[in-house]
Amino acid sequence: MAEPVDPAALESLQARYRELLARFESNRGEFSRLARSVLRIQEEERRRIARELHDGIGQNLTALKHQLALLEPHLDEAGRRRLAESVLLCAQTLEDTRQLSRLLRPQVLDDLGLEAALRWLARTLGEAGAPAIEIEIGALPTLDGETSTLVFRLAQEALTNVVRHADARQALLRLVHKAGTLQLTVWDDGRGCDPERVLASPGAGIGGMRERLRLYGGAFELHSRPGEGCRLRLALPLSTARD
Ligand SMILES: Nc1ncnc2c1ncn2[C@@H]1O[C@H](COP(=O)(O)OP(=O)(O)O)[C@@H](O)[C@H]1O
Ligand SMILES: [Mg+2]
Repeated sequence: MAEPVDPAALESLQARYRELLARFESNRGEFSRLARSVLRIQEEERRRIARELHDGIGQNLTALKHQLALLEPHLDEAGRRRLAESVLLCAQTLEDTRQLSRLLRPQVLDDLGLEAALRWLARTLGEAGAPAIEIEIGALPTLDGETSTLVFRLAQEALTNVVRHADARQALLRLVHKAGTLQLTVWDDGRGCDPERVLASPGAGIGGMRERLRLYGGAFELHSRPGEGCRLRLALPLSTARD
């Protein structure tokens, strides 16, 4: 026969359980705070390197290009050909440097805000021969820098996936604000994928998106079937207190 339960022992066990649960919750909160601050520091570092590339190396390359051009009248035909090649190389390196700077942290995000940055992103990705990317943005509340950055990084990853994997003819990014939540939808009519397989072993892109959303209390959904395009729905509550 089972031993009668000692009420005092049960009470003490329950108290211990509550205490462990509280400690677990507090550790989880602490972990999320730390992870969010790592993201903030990473973004700050990207901003610094982007500015350094643009203002430092970028401006030196511009000056170098002008100085090279001044040599032209002093050279013979062969020298001029060489010079033209050097000026071209310099111009290409300048363009690569600017591109890298924009990828690291597009200045338009800091100067003109999220909406302008998303339109810039769609335009730049669309230029690479990818599908034309349509953008629909509803009325948004004023967003802090951290939220704008988060949404921008999510959109950047989602649209890069469309360009890289979907082989789509059309793509759409929609951002709306409903009932205190930002809803970001990225849709394409490309080859689609098997969400179960992708979510079972996601790459750094989708894994990173889910991780970021989890840290900010958001939700991630991927709907797709092979051959029928992909629809990514991300929701981000704006009310969650952050520190
Ligand atoms: N829009 C899409 N269309 C088709 N397949 C996609 C799309 N987005 C993601 N995938 C699939 O999901 C996989 C994981 O994506 P991701 O985590 O971003 O890693 P990566 O882009 O580095 O491969 C991709 O390799 C691809 O097979
Ligand atoms: Mg990816």
